Amino acid sequence: MALLEIKTAGNPVLKTVCKPVEKIDKRLRKLLDDMAETMYESKGVGLAAPQIGESIRAVVIDVDGKTRYDMINPVIVYREGVDIDTEGCLSCPNIFGEVERAEKVRVEFISRFNKKKTLEADGLLARCIQHELDHLDGQLFIDIAKNIRANRDDNASR
Ligand code: CO
Repeated sequence: MALLEIKTAGNPVLKTVCKPVEKIDKRLRKLLDDMAETMYESKGVGLAAPQIGESIRAVVIDVDGKTRYDMINPVIVYREGVDIDTEGCLSCPNIFGEVERAEKVRVEFISRFNKKKTLEADGLLARCIQHELDHLDGQLFIDIAKNIRANRDDNASR
């Protein structure tokens, strides 16, 4: 595996709508593994392909350190409820803000072994899915966040 360079806000790849993945092969699985290693090394809970400069619809997510999801061509097919919480992003270092998301989502995607999957999620996993899928459409959380600031802690001076 290999660590990849994470692109930061201002790079046009992050504002580009990504293309669907057409071929699920060894090369793609290697990319997903490298993305996951990069995510874990950076202490992130999700990473989307455009963040490492690949404009394709693929994300890796692991919010509990136990279950890694590799999602290819993911689509949210159902949303329920509203939840507001603090987010950050590996492409926007030291920036935090409150983002309104659906509380629960159902997402359909293709697995790394080319199987159709459906996942229902709530809590942090639901939030992370929505954040990562926004990346595939060229949207960053700072485009939609409120109270954007340099510290996660709301009470910090600044
Ligand atoms: Co992000």
